[in-house]
Amino acid sequence: MALSKVEKLEALRREALLGGGEKRKEKQHAQGKLTARERIDILLDKGTFVEIDAFVKHRSSDFGLDKQKYLGDGIVTGFGKINGRPVYVFSQDFTVFGGSLSETHAEKMVKIMDLAMKNGVPIIGLNDSGGARIQEGVASLGGYAEVFWRNSMASGVIPQISAIMGPCAGGAVYSPAITDFTFMVKNTSFMFVTGPNVVKTVTHEEVTSEELGGAMAHNTKSGVAHRACENDVSCLNAIRSLMTYLPQNCEEKSPKQASKAPAKAKADALDTLVPENANKPYDMHEVIAGIMDENSFFEIHPHYADNIIVGFARLDGRSVGIVANQPLSLAGCLDINASAKAARFVRFCDAFNIPLVVFEDVPGFLPGTDQEWGGIIKHGAKLLYAFCEATVPKVTVITRKAYGGAYDVMNSKHIRADYNIAWPTAEIAVMGVKGAVEIIFKNEISTAEDAEATQKALEEDYQEKFGNPYRAAERGFIDDVIYPSETRDKLIKAFEVIQTKVDSVPRKKHDNLPL
Ligand code: HXC
Repeated sequence: MALSKVEKLEALRREALLGGGEKRKEKQHAQGKLTARERIDILLDKGTFVEIDAFVKHRSSDFGLDKQKYLGDGIVTGFGKINGRPVYVFSQDFTVFGGSLSETHAEKMVKIMDLAMKNGVPIIGLNDSGGARIQEGVASLGGYAEVFWRNSMASGVIPQISAIMGPCAGGAVYSPAITDFTFMVKNTSFMFVTGPNVVKTVTHEEVTSEELGGAMAHNTKSGVAHRACENDVSCLNAIRSLMTYLPQNCEEKSPKQASKAPAKAKADALDTLVPENANKPYDMHEVIAGIMDENSFFEIHPHYADNIIVGFARLDGRSVGIVANQPLSLAGCLDINASAKAARFVRFCDAFNIPLVVFEDVPGFLPGTDQEWGGIIKHGAKLLYAFCEATVPKVTVITRKAYGGAYDVMNSKHIRADYNIAWPTAEIAVMGVKGAVEIIFKNEISTAEDAEATQKALEEDYQEKFGNPYRAAERGFIDDVIYPSETRDKLIKAFEVIQTKVDSVPRKKHDNLPL
């Protein structure tokens, strides 16, 4: 007997929920992975998901595909809310052809990308896919290119977030690579352009998927991924947290949240945090924790180039982007990876109206052939360029060293920072005391009766003259010298004024960032 219209709809809905079937779902669970729909349920506010295109089927008939059709074609798409604000989402369903991308699978993705752009709403992609649907050939490749083009057009217009929750291989990696943030799940996700077998054939290297492109490989070595999460649930919750700092699109500002000042003890501890001995490190995370709203710091790239810290925080409830040198690693020097990491973060913040707060303790650029031959000049220039072009409110707090070119790069007054302040421990100079004295007093030291004592006296003199913030303050290169424990209060007051800043860059087709 034919089904009634209502029964038909009910049957189709049930079929769509089945994905690739119970057996494949069990396999997914056995691997420690959630299904595409379970992931969406955790990512979005309860009951807010509205699915679109659940009834889409592929149109292929080669290799017996006409007999294998699954409603939805391996991807769940739609929209919903995170903390009450709309987002578009796609979630690849590995239980259907391994989540592989067919022409219709790509059309579903493209449809919500277009809607996200039209409506100025962020898009979140949950990736779990064997790549191009092999049976479809070039139709699938065309689908990928349609997605990549939209990723590029959406860049800087709406936030685009990728979670890698299973395989992501071949050209498929280029969609997440263009998006703003990529979070990976430890042990169950991997990304690579060519897998271990091809690597073995071409370079004779023996490497596992995890070693080659697992979460930690991309969080520590390549910098492709921004966070490594323990499991699917923590990955999805991390995305929910991230979204609280972001605006919906480039025309809007991030939502203000309730704020709580850090404990008084943490703020007071800042007054004695920087050691007397300029060669001794301290943890810049303590500076951030003593100034920003309590527990509000959300670090990006915590495992990569840890000589620089970047991430979002809130100051009096407002979202800010933090860029901070970390004296605990490489003495806080800028190197290739740190420059590229921070430059991309600064550009994200600028694109999405998130003000920048810089904490500076930088002895300079890291010396060495590795760095020079690796292109520290062009990579360092990226960070300089990013700060120069940023028109969002920008403030800098110099906690200790601000030496040489790195002083200019790290959001100095000269590249249009709005409020630059220093702690009494600041040393703003062309270079460190010892190096400076050895160069300018080379003859005096080499001809002195007691070279050591002469050098020491000259160093003390140089330190007295330049190893402080007052030469820079005399010229107005910094606006004030303050007690560290005053920093939060000063920054909050500064932002009350500069949050309405209007600035622009000259009209151009687009810039030519040193790549
Ligand atoms: C069609 C695919 C598929 C694909 C997997 N499946 N990948 N179907 N096209 N690309 C199917 C399998 O046939 C299987 O179907 C189911 O998905 C699960 O796959 P398994 O191999 O059983 O799973 P697992 O052991 O977990 O291995 C997952 C995997 C592996 C590592 C992803 O399936 C694999 O290597 N797949 C091929 C990857 C690949 O070479 N893709 C093309 C890359 S080129 P059944 O019916 O048994 O459940 C590319 C170019 C993109 O992507 C270019 C963009 C510009």
